[in-house]
Amino acid sequence: MSQAFAHEEVVVRRGSRSGLPLIIAIHSRTLGPAVGGCRLRRYETWQDGLADALRLSEAMTYKAAVAGLEFGGGKTVIVLGKDTELTADLRQAALEDLGELIASLQGSYRTGPDIGTGPDDMVVLRRFSPYAHCAPEEHGGTGNSGGPTATGVLAALHAGARHVFGDASCTGRTVVISGFGSVGSGIAAGLAAEGAQVVVSDVDGSRKEAASASGYGWVEPDRALSAPADIFVPAAVGGILSEATAPRLTAPLIVGPANNQLTEESVADALARHGIVWIPDYVASAGGIIYALSRESEHYSHEAARKRVEGIGDTVSHVLEAARATGVTPQRAAREIAKARLTR
Ligand SMILES: NC(=O)c1ccc[n+]([C@@H]2O[C@H](COP(=O)([O-])OP(=O)(O)OC[C@H]3O[C@@H](n4cnc5c(N)ncnc54)[C@H](O)[C@@H]3O)[C@@H](O)[C@H]2O)c1
Repeated sequence: MSQAFAHEEVVVRRGSRSGLPLIIAIHSRTLGPAVGGCRLRRYETWQDGLADALRLSEAMTYKAAVAGLEFGGGKTVIVLGKDTELTADLRQAALEDLGELIASLQGSYRTGPDIGTGPDDMVVLRRFSPYAHCAPEEHGGTGNSGGPTATGVLAALHAGARHVFGDASCTGRTVVISGFGSVGSGIAAGLAAEGAQVVVSDVDGSRKEAASASGYGWVEPDRALSAPADIFVPAAVGGILSEATAPRLTAPLIVGPANNQLTEESVADALARHGIVWIPDYVASAGGIIYALSRESEHYSHEAARKRVEGIGDTVSHVLEAARATGVTPQRAAREIAKARLTR
């Protein structure tokens, strides 16, 4: 992050009901209202929560810009102290505090679920304003975004395969998916349906049975990165691609939804030096936000919103072609595409 204050607006407030620090960071509204999920987690200090909100809201600006959305970047962080017990009452109070704060921004910031919050929490926020997305369908939202996110990753994966292998089809290719959760299981199902050899991995050993029942292979998490693969899909946690892990990777293509896959920006260069094409996570993982905003804010039908999510494939092709033409990493090419939209 640069030294200059890059954000348009940052609100820090102690919730009147919960007493918890609530932070809404709005990085940019250049393209439209800011969007970004609501993170509810423990931090050492509220300033650590603020740093997270600043970093994540900036990332949302680039995510929305590359995705072609008419929205900017924002983020909410509700800070839980190290020793604060999150009772049901405290959670409810914090969500009511946040609902009131979001309503006061009059639609210039919209939120959705993130780490620590889910569709049901959006129902509480929606009592104060309509600016909380992904509530369950019976409450007027589009629910869990895992399915649309998986659809977007599959579109990104096919565009990446066309670029790397000269053929978008994954029939017969070995794909290792790290993280067999909401998004990872959707990706696995899509790939298996087209005849890929799907191998999954998860720290939750109980997922092995579900993998085997679906006919997928299994690899233990400590071996997932180095297991023989044509495509590696990070679908669990961030920070798994580093200077140290790059030489262990066998797949020439890496594409997945996990947020913040690189330990630092320079890892994109290290991956390129090892001959690996890495699709930036924020480009591949935009399906959930594209779907929710298209349906809930722009009133697209399910089919039209899904088609827009599949447009992530064209975005990825554009990024990879720009990277190849200018001799930079896909990471840098994506950032340039975003910046060009933001400065138009
Ligand atoms: N759900 C969405 O719409 C969405 C959108 C954008 C980005 N993402 C990101 O994609 C990733 C997956 O999201 P999800 O909704 O499927 O989450 P999830 O919680 O449903 O699934 C994650 C799975 O990863 C497993 N896991 C955790 N640590 C692991 C490790 N070190 N190695 C292997 N497996 C591990 C968990 O046991 C779990 O089964 C997350 O990083 C999330 O932030 C999700």
